[in-house]
Formats: sequence, structure tokens, C-alpha cells
Amino acid sequence: MSEIAEIIVDGKSYQLPIVVGTEDEKAIDISSLRSETSHITLDPGYKNTGATTSAITFLDGEKGILRYRGYPIEQLAEKSSFLEVSYLLIYGSLPTAEQLNDFSDRIRRHTLVNEDMRKILDGFPATAHPMGILSALVSSLTAFYPESLNSNQTQDEMDLSVIRLMAKMPTIAAWSYKNSIGHPVIYPKNKLDYASNFLNMMFAYPTESYEVDPVVVDALNKLLILHADHEQNCSTSTVRLVGSAHASLYSSVSAGIGALWGPLHGGANQAVIEMLEQIKADGGDSKKFIEKAKDKNDSFRLMGFGHRVYKNFDPRAKIIKKSADDVLTALGVKDPILNIAKELEEAALNDPYFVERKLYPNVDFYSGIIYRALGIPTNMFTVMFALGRLPGWIAQWKEMRENKEPIGRPRQVYVGETERDYVAVENR
Ligand code: CMC
Repeated sequence: MSEIAEIIVDGKSYQLPIVVGTEDEKAIDISSLRSETSHITLDPGYKNTGATTSAITFLDGEKGILRYRGYPIEQLAEKSSFLEVSYLLIYGSLPTAEQLNDFSDRIRRHTLVNEDMRKILDGFPATAHPMGILSALVSSLTAFYPESLNSNQTQDEMDLSVIRLMAKMPTIAAWSYKNSIGHPVIYPKNKLDYASNFLNMMFAYPTESYEVDPVVVDALNKLLILHADHEQNCSTSTVRLVGSAHASLYSSVSAGIGALWGPLHGGANQAVIEMLEQIKADGGDSKKFIEKAKDKNDSFRLMGFGHRVYKNFDPRAKIIKKSADDVLTALGVKDPILNIAKELEEAALNDPYFVERKLYPNVDFYSGIIYRALGIPTNMFTVMFALGRLPGWIAQWKEMRENKEPIGRPRQVYVGETERDYVAVENR
């Protein structure tokens, strides 16, 4: 017999089914609770609410496990490529050599963006943050591909939207950077692989070509893989919620980019470097900043520390920390903020405040240091996260639509004024 939960409301008992996942994760299905008891559940920040069942990513925050479609993140980061992982997330299984070639070729054929998009880009001042440009230009793809607005797309049509987005996102991302430095954009070079093509559009000039360094390509591939999906986080839930209203893939991902931009989410990688720079400029005393982070009257938080679900360690941070050492050594980069980061980590991991609250370095703590070593400017760090997260957003959007999930619409407990009569302005 399947398990059930029992809840007593106003002295009356109700039975609710328990849903069990393939990794034995258990959830009480409360969907009938309101109709039976007229009560809802309250869970600000959805800390304990499952919004969906999903077959894409499994993570166990207590044990520090992360798997995409069953494959451990450690194996994928070590042995796979970003496009292979993207295929895995989007279509559910590792591609054969032929499927991977076909996927890569189709993406290559769609890397150009419509020339009119350059006019939109030209309208942004150089001060515009690249994340704002990315979100706006991804949303504007709906204007160039209006068929993407059709909520009854066939599988092939949906697939074309997916390929277009995977193909154009690096172009838009690199162009948003070129705009921020007032330089002409570089067009995609389709003989290059996904990561190299992006790097070329970032760092080549019309006057000067750019030699793609394999160490940089490898590091970028690894970072993109580590960021590729993370189940129902803030931006992914945004993508699913927007998509649940049958908004297009492009509008849904554009909204996800907005969510990712926040410093508590993907924006943390930029915030980490700014924090490390601040500590360095202040004389490098990491202990002083640990004290600030602990002080409840001080709004300062240790950026890159803590995670909603990881309460032991973030497996991505483990891989990235090692990769940061390897990349800096291979490129011969000596970055003093790497030492500050290590000191800060050491001090925090031995401090009861952080130990008791299970606060460990997260994926963003070391990723910014690698991006810096690769020559990526700070205001592009969150854009890099978005490039990596794209296949995850697509896979989650597609799963939600294919499973015909209902429109997302949370409830609330109203705590405002009860009914009162309108009073004319002269009598107030
Ligand atoms: N520095 C100092 N104190 C912290 C920190 C931190 N970075 N993170 C959490 N705490 C404290 C917090 O003040 C609270 O203390 P108390 O119980 O005394 O009130 C306790 O730890 C629990 O924190 P919380 O805010 O309830 O935890 P949460 O699950 O709501 O927040 C978080 C998770 C990631 C937003 C938070 O840890 C944080 O703000 N970290 C810094 C920002 C960051 O690095 N974000 C990137 C997350 S990883 C990339 C991604 O997937 O987005």
C-alpha cells in the first residue's frame, strides 16, 4: 500500500497521498487540501515546497550530490563537453556521435542574429549592464521569430526555437560586452566550436584576430557544464512559471535572465570579486570581514557563501576550486585575490557562526577568479552563468510544456485591511 500522511484540521483528520521520487525523495501531495479543508499551506520563499516533479536534475544538499539525468556532475565536468551536456539535459539521454554532430551542426547554422538586432543593441548606452541587454535581446527574438509565440508548436517547431536560442545566445552575450566597451561587434565564425566561437566574438577585433587558447576553452567548457542546471532554483522556477502561462521560450528565458541577475542568485559571482577587491583595498584583513558578515546590524554578507539547498558542501565548488588552481597555474596568472579567497574560506570554515549555520563556499565563490584569469570582465560574470544555465532553462521549460503542467499561481494569506468605505478626498 502506498504511504499516506494524515493531517488534523479543526479536529478532523484528512489523508493526503505521499509521492515518492526515484531517489526516494518524499513529498506530501497537498493539492486536495484546500477543497477538503479550505486551508492552504504557507511557505514564504518556497523553502519546503515542491513545485513540480522533474526528471532532469537530482541533487541532495545534505550529501553534496548533483546529477544531470542520473550522471554525476564530477564525471560530466571531467569527461564531457558543454554541447553534449546540453543535449543530455534537453533531450534526456547522452547523444550518439551522429546525434551530437547533428546537434552541433544545427547550432552552428543559426549563430547569426538578424541585422536589425544590431540597431536595438546600438540604442543601449555603453553604461548598460550586459545582463540587461541579454534579457532584452533574448526577449526581442520573439519579434524576429513570431511563430515562437504559438503555444501549439509541433515538436519540430519547438526544436527550432531551442536550436536558435542555443545558437544565438553566445552571439548576443558577446555583443552585449562589445557594446559596453564601445567596440564594433564581431560576427560568429562557424568553423569554431561553441566555446571558442564565443571567446572569439568577445576578444577578437576587426583589426586583430584572436588566438583561442585550449586551456581557456577547456576551463570555459567546465564552467558552463557546472552551471548547466540546478533544478528548481530562482531563475529556473521563473522560467517555468512564465512558461506555464504559455509564454514563448524566448520570453520565459528572458525573465529567467532577469532573476539570475540578482546578487543573491547568479549575480553573486560578480559580487564575490567586488567583495574580494574590497577586502584587498582595505588591507587584506579577511577576519575583519568575517566579523562584519556575522554582525546582524551590518547588512554585509559573505558573498559566495551559503546555499538554500547545500548544507554540507556544494559539489560544484569543490570542482571549481581545483580548477581555479589548475587554470591560474596553466595560464601563469598570479592573482592576489585567490589568496584572499582561500584565507577567507579557511577562516569561515573554522568559525562557529558559519559551521553552525552550515554555510560553505558555493559555486560562485571561485568561478569569478577563473573568469578573471580567462580575461572575462567582471560585469560579464553573470552573463557567463546565464550562458551555462541556458540548456537547463530550456530543458525545464520543455519538460513543463510537454507534461502539460497547469499555469503556476501561488496563493497567499491576506493580512491587509478588512472592508472599509471610501471617503471623499476633502473629508480625509
Ligand atoms: N554571510 C553571512 N551570513 C549568512 C550568509 C552569508 N553569505 N548566508 C546565510 N547567512 C546566515 C543568515 O543570516 C541566517 O542567519 P540567522 O539564522 O542567524 O538569521 C542563516 O545564515 C540562514 O540564512 P538564510 O538567508 O535563511 O538562508 P537562505 O537559504 O534563505 O539563503 C542564500 C541562501 C544563498 C541566499 C544566502 O546564503 C546568501 O545570501 N548567500 C550569499 C549570496 C550568494 O553567494 N548567492 C549565490 C548562491 S549559489 C548560486 C546560485 O545557485 O544562485
